[in-house]
Amino acid sequence: MVQGFSREPGTEGPLSGIAPEGVRKVRLWALFIALGGFLFGFDTGVVSGALLYIKGEFHLNSLEQSSIVSVLLIGAMLGAMGAGRAADRLGRRKTLAIEGLLFIGGTAILTFAPGYVVLLIGRIVLGVAVGAASATVPVYLSEVSPTELRGRFLTLNQLMITVGILISYLVNLAFAGSGQWRAMFAVGAIPALLMVAGTVWLLPESPQWLILKGRVDKARKVIESVSNEERATHLIERALRRRPDEKQGAEQKKDWRVLLAPRVRPALIVGLTLAAAQQFGGINTIIYYAPTLIEKTGLSATNSIFYSVAIGVINLVMTIVAIRLVDRMGRRPLLLISLTGMLVTLVLLGFSYVVGMSSVLSLLFMVIYIASFAVGLGPVFWVLVGELFPSSARAAGSGASTAVNWASNFVVSLVFLPLANVIGQGETFWIFAVIVVFTLWFVGRYVPETRGREFDEVDTALQARFGRKPQAGRASG
Ligand code: GLC
Repeated sequence: MVQGFSREPGTEGPLSGIAPEGVRKVRLWALFIALGGFLFGFDTGVVSGALLYIKGEFHLNSLEQSSIVSVLLIGAMLGAMGAGRAADRLGRRKTLAIEGLLFIGGTAILTFAPGYVVLLIGRIVLGVAVGAASATVPVYLSEVSPTELRGRFLTLNQLMITVGILISYLVNLAFAGSGQWRAMFAVGAIPALLMVAGTVWLLPESPQWLILKGRVDKARKVIESVSNEERATHLIERALRRRPDEKQGAEQKKDWRVLLAPRVRPALIVGLTLAAAQQFGGINTIIYYAPTLIEKTGLSATNSIFYSVAIGVINLVMTIVAIRLVDRMGRRPLLLISLTGMLVTLVLLGFSYVVGMSSVLSLLFMVIYIASFAVGLGPVFWVLVGELFPSSARAAGSGASTAVNWASNFVVSLVFLPLANVIGQGETFWIFAVIVVFTLWFVGRYVPETRGREFDEVDTALQARFGRKPQAGRASG
């Protein structure tokens, strides 16, 4: 399974090399954790359809309409910033439970909102939940994954995001006839309830967090529940042997300051840059505005909604392909292929609008662009968020990267339509293309391969990319 990477003693994660029955159980945990991803996709996607009816009922102008979409992104930024601290103090499990309750609260506010202001409040609450969950899920998933399957488990997050987006489009279609926008939002309560139930009855605390907090006995129980006593002793001993090493680095510092430690800097630079690059490549202009964009190519509105569902399907299917490849090919090749595909299609998409090519061609380029994103940059960013940072800085690092991802998402969503009106639709795609060129260079130069590597090996590989010597006593990657 992990050909090509020798196992140094003392480099295994808490759940590495467990038996197949154990893996089955961990897979179930992963599915429940990734409900956070589903809610991310659902709640960002559902509003596009609901808005069509809300604007009529409450007589909203265009600024009020776009505020309902974008306040969620601001809430998400705040949620992501708070989540790291919560996950380190309370643990991953309690944090996810609280996020689930926030999802339920936000959904309830939206479902029963009497007017515009309450709608805004509901969207902010939901945003905080979405942002916090998007920072917690990769960390939690990463820490319960057996190393050899970590890529798969982490891509599950992006898979559930794309499933959430697609289901939201379908829910929109289902209630579109009757215009029941409250029902559209209300559907989101179901996965949120499931997630809370999962944290109460099914999910264990992350063994890695428990070890970091010195609660070794509890960690042992978790590992024994998917493995045997002997294996648990062996894995815990190894994890403990690694701990003093971690402590030297960043762990003594509290909260955000952990990110300023020199050792964490390379991970932070890669995390933040990829977070911004993922959004400035323009993905959500298509995900959020697909029907509008397709309409501009000359197709009718009904056809446009239909094709946006098709885009959701392609997004999902190609994410499944990525899941299959991420632990075989590795993260770097997927990123490079993905970015190259995005670059080519963005250039062509730009041309198709500038010279007014047929709508079929524009649609084709859009589909290949989405497919290229979905097979690499989409999932691999969220994979790296979970595995780049050393344990002591993982939650804070994930929080910071995720917050930048949401902030960039907000900027792109806000600027996209006005910018396209000023400089032209095609030209806007070319700006995204320029950013993708930069991202290609950055990935080639600074992003290490993390496939099959334990967290300390990832760290060593990162330091090497930034021209630093590994710390004495660390396993080399
Ligand atoms: C990634 C992005 C998110 C986008 C989604 C589309 O998860 O982070 O912003 O909406 O992919 O599939």
